[in-house]
Amino acid sequence: MEKPFVICHMLTSLDGKIDGKYMSAPACAPALEKYGEIRGFYGCEATLYGTTTMLGGYSAGRAPANLPDSPDYPMEDYVAESDVHNYIVSVDPAGVLGWESKYIEKKGRPRAHVIEVLTERVDPRYLAYLRQFDISYVFAGEEHLDCALLLHKLKTLFGIEKLMVAGGGLMNWSFAQAGLLDEVSIVMAPVADGNTSAVSIFEKADFLPEREPLAFTMKEIERINGGLWLRYTPQK
Ligand SMILES: NC(=O)c1ccc[n+]([C@@H]2O[C@H](COP(=O)([O-])OP(=O)(O)OC[C@H]3O[C@@H](n4cnc5c(N)ncnc54)[C@H](OP(=O)(O)O)[C@@H]3O)[C@@H](O)[C@H]2O)c1
Repeated sequence: MEKPFVICHMLTSLDGKIDGKYMSAPACAPALEKYGEIRGFYGCEATLYGTTTMLGGYSAGRAPANLPDSPDYPMEDYVAESDVHNYIVSVDPAGVLGWESKYIEKKGRPRAHVIEVLTERVDPRYLAYLRQFDISYVFAGEEHLDCALLLHKLKTLFGIEKLMVAGGGLMNWSFAQAGLLDEVSIVMAPVADGNTSAVSIFEKADFLPEREPLAFTMKEIERINGGLWLRYTPQK
């Protein structure tokens, strides 16, 4: 099946956490800056985030609780016009995210067109909500995300050749477990905060089956401002 080249790119603490107070510590700042620079180095046309990450800083909160009845749109993929070939792929299986525009503009990053990723459990009224903003959407899975199908659609419907999977931990592991990552890029900051509840770079969702640990081959390692940039290739 055709798919983009997929890089999982993450900033972690020394103990592999991707969230927590360590991120605002001065000792983390140089690694954070490097993390952004490396995003540019990969030059991906699309960046994918899970629902929790989208809610944390990319969507306009949650969609209204009571969506109005509206004309029915078929449960089919919709590819909207976009004036940029740069995308934020928003995994939103149940259709809960709120929007104000079909573009996301973040400081220091290029304007990105939103692609919502839904499953068949979405309320059809949510499709009408997305149409209000002319946001693209694709279906990938019945209840849970079908990662392989999504990648195929990103390549064939949107022409995406290189995709960055950028969190959170549940999303990252969904792609890793399905054997769909081509590279893992970790910027490790020289800092930790002892948090026992923060998510780590890989978190297995309860609905995924158990599997053997995944092994990686080291591709490159570089010292960066007191931290490390680690590049690995997952062993297939
Ligand atoms: N350090 C970094 O570089 C970095 C980057 C990005 C994010 N983060 C951090 O990561 C944290 C969030 O990570 P997270 O692991 O809790 O959440 P996440 O991966 O952002 O999102 C998890 C949600 O996505 C949906 N999901 C994930 N895998 C799925 C699958 N296979 N099928 C269907 N749905 C799936 C589920 O939504 P439903 O439950 O609605 O079905 C799940 O609850 C945040 O604190 C954020 O700040 C850090």
